[in-house]
Formats: sequence, C-alpha cells, structure tokens
Amino acid sequence: MKKWVGVGLAVLFGLVVSMALATGVTEVVTIDNQYTAKKKGPVVLSHKKHAVDYKVACVECHHMWNQKKGTQPKKCSACHKEKKRGKVLGLMRAYHKNCMGCHKELKKQGKPTGPTTKCNDCHQKKS
Ligand code: HEC
Ligand code: HEC
Ligand code: HEC
Ligand code: HEC
Repeated sequence: MKKWVGVGLAVLFGLVVSMALATGVTEVVTIDNQYTAKKKGPVVLSHKKHAVDYKVACVECHHMWNQKKGTQPKKCSACHKEKKRGKVLGLMRAYHKNCMGCHKELKKQGKPTGPTTKCNDCHQKKS
C-alpha cells in the first residue's frame, strides 16, 4: 500500500514539475535567424500548444538542455551554425530535421500532426 502511495506521489510530482515548466512557456516563438541569403519568411511556432496541447517534451526540441531550475535553454543557433560543422547539423537542417522529423514520424503512425511538406504551412510570406 505505502509503495503505491509513493509511486502515486512520484507520478504526481512529475506531472506538477512538467506542468510548472509548461505554464511558463511563451505562447509563440518567432524563428527568424540571420542567413547569408534568407530565402524564406520567418516561422511562427505555436510554442505553448506544442508543449501543452500536443504534449511535446521540452527536450524533444531543446535537446541539450538539462532543465535545471533557474536555467534556460540555449538558442539552437548557439551550436548549429549556418554551415554544418563536423557532426553538428547546419541550422536549417537542424530545424527541418527536428520539426519535420517528428511530424513525419507521427504521420506514419496515422496520428494528427503538423506540416510535413508544404513550405508555407510553416514559413510566413517573405516581407
Ligand atoms: C514543419 C515546418 C517547416 C516546413 C514544412 C518547412 N520549413 Fe523551412 N524552416 C523551418 C524552420 C523552423 C526554419 C528556421 C528558420 C530560421 O532559422 O529563421 C526553416 C528554415 C528554412 C530555410 C533557411 C532560412 C532561409 O529562409 O533561407 C530555408 C531555405 C527553408 N527553411 C526552406 C524550406 C522549403 C523550401 C520548404 C518546403 C519544401 C520548407 N522550408 C518547409 C520550418 C519548416
Ligand atoms: C516543438 C519544439 C519546442 C518545444 C516542445 C519547446 N520549445 Fe522552447 N523553443 C523552441 C524554439 C524553436 C525556440 C526559439 C529559439 C531558437 O530558435 O533558438 C524556443 C524558445 C524557448 C525559450 C526562449 C524564448 C522564449 O520565448 O521564451 C525558452 C525559455 C523555452 N523555449 C523554453 C521551453 C520550455 C520550458 C519548454 C517545455 C515546457 C519548451 N521550450 C518546449 C522550440 C520548442
Ligand atoms: C549546446 C549545443 C546545442 C544546442 C543549443 C542545440 N543543439 Fe542540436 N545538436 C548539437 C550537437 C552537438 C548535435 C550532434 C550530436 C548529437 O546528435 O547529439 C546536435 C544534433 C541535433 C540534431 C540531429 C539529431 C539526430 O537525430 O540526428 C537535430 C535535429 C538538432 N540537433 C536540432 C536542434 C534544435 C532544433 C535545437 C534548438 C531547439 C538544437 N538542436 C539546439 C548541439 C546543440
Ligand atoms: C516531437 C513532435 C513535434 C515536434 C518536434 C514539432 N512538432 Fe509541430 N506538431 C506536432 C503535433 C503533434 C502537432 C499537431 C497535433 C494536432 O493537431 O493535434 C503539430 C502541429 C504543428 C503545426 C500546425 C498547428 C499549429 O499549432 O500551428 C505547425 C505549423 C507546426 N507543428 C510547426 C512545427 C515547427 C515549426 C516545429 C519545429 C520548430 C515543430 N512543429 C516541431 C508535433 C511536433
């Protein structure tokens, strides 16, 4: 009996922690990095919807973040530069692989998902 209370509490604690993280997340982030030749418009990511409604863990995207209290994830561009460096993907490829990689995987499983091919379902018109 006591054991199950412990497990229940642990699960509850986990939920509370992830909920606390998720409620602090901004509604949207506009991804608009500098490139030598910017070919497409910026991408507005429904940040909070992804984290809360679609239940995507922070570290699915912020994959190098240890989620320690008081720390913030680094920008992707802190590590992924315009050109690929050794094993570290270039910036566009890092986003495309992260975003479309997940959407394509969900599509394969027949689950609701985001855009997998149509550029302008993610990219805004170039201003
Ligand atoms: C699932 C969302 C998504 C889809 C679909 C998508 N992209 Fe992107 N793409 C992004 C994100 C996010 C970035 C990063 C933007 C930035 O760094 O400013 C990006 C960056 C880029 C860049 C580098 C930045 C620039 O403007 O030059 C190019 C080029 C690009 N995408 C082309 C395409 C093309 C072509 C398609 C369609 C075949 C496409 N993308 C479909 C999300 C998407
Ligand atoms: C679907 C991918 C994805 C998920 C899930 C996600 N983020 Fe983000 N987040 C991003 C992107 C992309 C940026 C923009 C930074 C960049 O492009 O370098 C960002 C930016 C941020 C920023 C800085 C800018 C701002 O507006 O706050 C913080 C802090 C942050 N995320 C925290 C979180 C936390 C906490 C979670 C989990 C509750 C989370 N993120 C879930 C992709 C994601
Ligand atoms: C602190 C540095 C750092 C940050 C910040 C970072 N990355 Fe990475 N990323 C790496 C390194 C190093 C690798 C290659 C080694 C690995 O796979 O872990 C990588 C690999 C990847 C891969 C390839 C994984 C695979 O399965 O092949 C993707 C996709 C990716 N990053 C996307 C992102 C996105 C999107 C962001 C921002 C939300 C981001 N990264 C932020 C350092 C970083
Ligand atoms: C780990 C999985 C995962 C990752 C990573 C992910 N998405 Fe999604 N995305 C989803 C799911 C799940 C849905 C929609 C499910 C639904 O409609 O119920 C979605 C929906 C969307 C939609 C359409 C609905 C909306 O909320 O705008 C867009 C656009 C989108 N994603 C863009 C992005 C971009 C841009 C990135 C990368 C920065 C990204 N996604 C990364 C899982 C993911």
